[in-house]
Amino acid sequence: MSPLLLLVLGLVFLLLLMIRTRTRTRRAGEPPLIDSWIPFLGKALEYRADSRKFLEENYRKHGDAFTVHLAGRYITFVMNPLLYPYVIKQDSQLDFHEFSDQISSFAFGYTPLSHCDIPGLEDEIQRGFQLLKGENLDSTLEAVSANLMQVLRQDHLGAGSWRTSNLYEFCDSIMFETIALTMFGKPPGASYRGDIQALREDFHKFDDMFPLLVARVPVRLLGKTKAIRDKFHKYFLPQRMKAWSNGMRFTQTRMELFDGCDSMKDTDKAAHHFAMMWASVANTIPAIFWNLYGVMSDPSAMAAIREEMRDVLGLSEDQVNRPDTDLTLTREQLDKLVCMESTISESLRLSTSSVTLRLATEDTKIQLDERRWFNVRKGDMVAMFPQTLHMDPEVYGDPETYKFDRFVKDGKKKTDFYKGGQKLKYFLLPFGYGSSRCPGQYMATYLMKLLLCVLLLHFDFLVDPGQSTPPLDTSRAGLGTLPPSSDISFRYRLRTRPPH
Ligand code: HEM
Repeated sequence: MSPLLLLVLGLVFLLLLMIRTRTRTRRAGEPPLIDSWIPFLGKALEYRADSRKFLEENYRKHGDAFTVHLAGRYITFVMNPLLYPYVIKQDSQLDFHEFSDQISSFAFGYTPLSHCDIPGLEDEIQRGFQLLKGENLDSTLEAVSANLMQVLRQDHLGAGSWRTSNLYEFCDSIMFETIALTMFGKPPGASYRGDIQALREDFHKFDDMFPLLVARVPVRLLGKTKAIRDKFHKYFLPQRMKAWSNGMRFTQTRMELFDGCDSMKDTDKAAHHFAMMWASVANTIPAIFWNLYGVMSDPSAMAAIREEMRDVLGLSEDQVNRPDTDLTLTREQLDKLVCMESTISESLRLSTSSVTLRLATEDTKIQLDERRWFNVRKGDMVAMFPQTLHMDPEVYGDPETYKFDRFVKDGKKKTDFYKGGQKLKYFLLPFGYGSSRCPGQYMATYLMKLLLCVLLLHFDFLVDPGQSTPPLDTSRAGLGTLPPSSDISFRYRLRTRPPH
């Protein structure tokens, strides 16, 4: 066949494909439809290039809600935060767990829960998340403190001269090990430290491919990702985990739950633990980086937090001056650190880029407010994109600027934020909402507070001069807290005097 004929046939095929796939037109009661001539992909390329810009332009053009064709899916974005409570109220009409099960099982390599004939397994998994809340966390906080101090002592609590490091690497090396030890416990054997470093490297190689796995690119097409995932499946095998000491009750309860499921394969059990490791680490480390960076580069933030710690924690001189003793802070003490919590909220506001998605399993009517509603078809999705809310100048004056005390008012947590003169019910959503709300949000916040307390009590910090704030790495847009696109160099040294 001549190359010209081949080209003509190819073009005819493409045209037919375009005609076949461009069959969707907007129906009465549906939001404005944003589609393109590109078969299957629709607006995916524009969306991927800069999702915030794309969505905000369409918000200005089409109003509060519109439907976008993205890689074979039709997603209706509700953009106006004043409408969030209406959408959130209808959460039970839409599905989260079925499609998140599809995505997670594909990414982490376990049999989808919907294919397991184990009655009630999914409900039990959800019930187990209660162990990440309230007084269940008391013993976890003790473990976090002990593990954090152990990790710091190994590598950082040496002599008092200045040391240079990169901040993301510093946060990652400390917190990956602290979280792994706290969640899963310590494996026996002298090789533990080397193992955890190798695990951390593998974790990041896997995590780099995570956006592609979420886009359902088969793992076998992603170089060594399959081999790395298999390594994690071996690492978390039940017979190995049983020998680990001092893991969280949350993890032990999950192990017991899986143990009781005779028909569940061991590699599936391991893959669930791997998924939990990812959930507990992947957002927490960039969040910690931005929190530390914000505090370190703003002397007034640093001074205000130190003052708050002094006033609230009531630590003795001995506790402050002796890094050889473990610093144990209770939930009640940490809850009182309102200014510190504001620095955490502020850094999450600036770095969060999650999309909360729900699937319509039936044709569904979504009420927008008292007067307005729209229809979504079975198989379509409804989404909210909190980054637009977090960066809205009407809600947060001067939104690009870091203001450490933005979430403090009269010494208490500030919760009144307004748009169009109306108080917003939802003004900060880094942890999602409703059925997909992050069950680890309390643990994440305590982890960040504990790290800040320990670091500020024991170290002085200096961000090396001449560096500007690194932009967010938008290649992970939509997946949670975005890491910086480059690292920051800084210096630290052990404090030789108590904070005063
Ligand atoms: C700053 C740190 C964290 C942030 C910003 C964060 C954010 C989120 C968000 C936005 C979701 C919802 C995802 C969606 O709607 O698809 C989520 C889910 C989840 N998070 Fe977190 N997370 C953090 C830390 C943690 C920690 C420390 C843990 C575990 C201890 C954890 C465990 C989970 C789990 C298990 C889910 C899935 C829940 C489910 O499927 O029902 N997260 N997280």
